[in-house]
Amino acid sequence: MRALISQWVFPEAVQRLEQAGFEVDMREASEPLPKPELIRRLQEADGLLCLLTDRVDAEVLRSAPRLKVVATATVGYDHIDVEAATALGILVTNTPDVLTEATADLAFGLLLAAARRIPEADRDVRRGRFPSWSLAQPHMGLDVWGKTLGIVGCGRIGQAVARRARGFGMRLLYHNRRRLAPEVEAELGLRYVSFEELLEESDFISVHTPLTPETHHLFSYEAFRQMKRTAILVNTARGPVVDEAALARALKEGLLRGAALDVFEEEPKVHPELRKLEGHVVLTPHIGSATEGTRRRMALRAAENLITGLQGRRPLDLVNPKAWRKRRG
Ligand code: GLV
Repeated sequence: MRALISQWVFPEAVQRLEQAGFEVDMREASEPLPKPELIRRLQEADGLLCLLTDRVDAEVLRSAPRLKVVATATVGYDHIDVEAATALGILVTNTPDVLTEATADLAFGLLLAAARRIPEADRDVRRGRFPSWSLAQPHMGLDVWGKTLGIVGCGRIGQAVARRARGFGMRLLYHNRRRLAPEVEAELGLRYVSFEELLEESDFISVHTPLTPETHHLFSYEAFRQMKRTAILVNTARGPVVDEAALARALKEGLLRGAALDVFEEEPKVHPELRKLEGHVVLTPHIGSATEGTRRRMALRAAENLITGLQGRRPLDLVNPKAWRKRRG
């Protein structure tokens, strides 16, 4: 059997596939293949290990006659047409759990960075600007301790953020499609509220929801109008959950104080108006899970899922269980 690895991954993941007896076609590049090339390389492939920037759409899937498993080395899988894969009997897997803590660390780091204007202060020191210590310093920030954090999408990563926030004495609200079990709410000190109440009550809002048609532009101009004028929005989930143009406008109009964004609507593009804003606005290039240990675990977990699926066993992280019954032999 043959596996295509669409972009560079850690050598141990490749070795794992080879040890399991697969012939591996791996690209060394760290950028996606143009679609016709991806389709061409998939002609002989039984499995695909892909990354976030590979668009595995219905056309790609339908053009791959032998493809049985698509294993993405990411937790989100909105870059894969899961419905089309399911219809074709192609298994799709992701890599949950292994990146939960690293992503929660970044979300909390961004929250602190935006609240206390750390990147701006750092830039100023490098430019030789070190204002005299005074009670009204130019880099005046916002308190974090004791404030209210609203978590939108309180799954694994949202809950890991909640655990960090408890250490900062924060009051915790959350909004989810489904309410969490009472024991989980009690253990983490989380209070379930409507989306509107969360917008109105939170000093900080951290987004951890997957991108779906329901969450696309969930944070619209209307939502920003309901937020506190001192609020900060943190997004480490998916860019299109936030309407970037509306956010830039709302920040300029003072509807909210700041935003810390690790994900964008059209990566690698960032809305030009957002790039002009400093202070409580912090921008990072989709590094939520980017620690060496975590990225290695993601690559290995994707390789394990690919091996399991290609060996005819049910993968641990199967995201389309409906495909299992009609999987390709
Ligand atoms: C990264 O954004 C991921 O989904 O793992």
